[in-house]
Amino acid sequence: MPHIKDTFFKPYISHSQILKRIEAIATQINVEYKNENPLIIGVLNGAFRFVADLSKEIEIPCEVSFVRLSSYRGMESSNQVQEVFGLPENLQNRKVIIVEDIVDSGLTLNELLPKLKKSGASSVDICTLLLKPKAFQYHYKIKYVGFEIENDFVVGYGLDYDEAGRCWNDICKLESNAKNV
Ligand code: IMP
Repeated sequence: MPHIKDTFFKPYISHSQILKRIEAIATQINVEYKNENPLIIGVLNGAFRFVADLSKEIEIPCEVSFVRLSSYRGMESSNQVQEVFGLPENLQNRKVIIVEDIVDSGLTLNELLPKLKKSGASSVDICTLLLKPKAFQYHYKIKYVGFEIENDFVVGYGLDYDEAGRCWNDICKLESNAKNV
């Protein structure tokens, strides 16, 4: 069973399910952003794999950039968003698609959205691989969602537990009978 130190996880969403869902999301983006040259902004670190696989399926002209923010330490949100790398400089009149690994409380994106709006972007859509609807505390619209999940702590495919587990191909969730949990 996958584990990080003494914490055990069980397989939850397989790599092939993830890739299939990404293909479907990219197909939608290819249609909805045709002739728009969208700017995809991935939120690091967690979204690095999602952005990489999503961009392989995008057939329309687009640009890719990243911003780095963090609100989590271990398994709990710190309730503080830190911006480490800033936004791309010229967003004037750009159609932006923010790409996240997971939206949990929604705090991270709630901090980022006003900055994007101020930057002159003409539109901002959100694309997240995972959404925890029961944890989401805001009202902004999330246009593209890979999978809605329960309030479980998940690791893999970019998502980490104290920086470990990001390279797992499958997404795993915390094993409730795990030792030390
Ligand atoms: P939010 O600000 O509460 O929406 O949390 C968003 C960020 O918290 C994500 O970009 C992840 O980095 C992290 N996060 C939230 N839930 C999980 C989880 O279940 N596993 C790993 N990281 C998570």
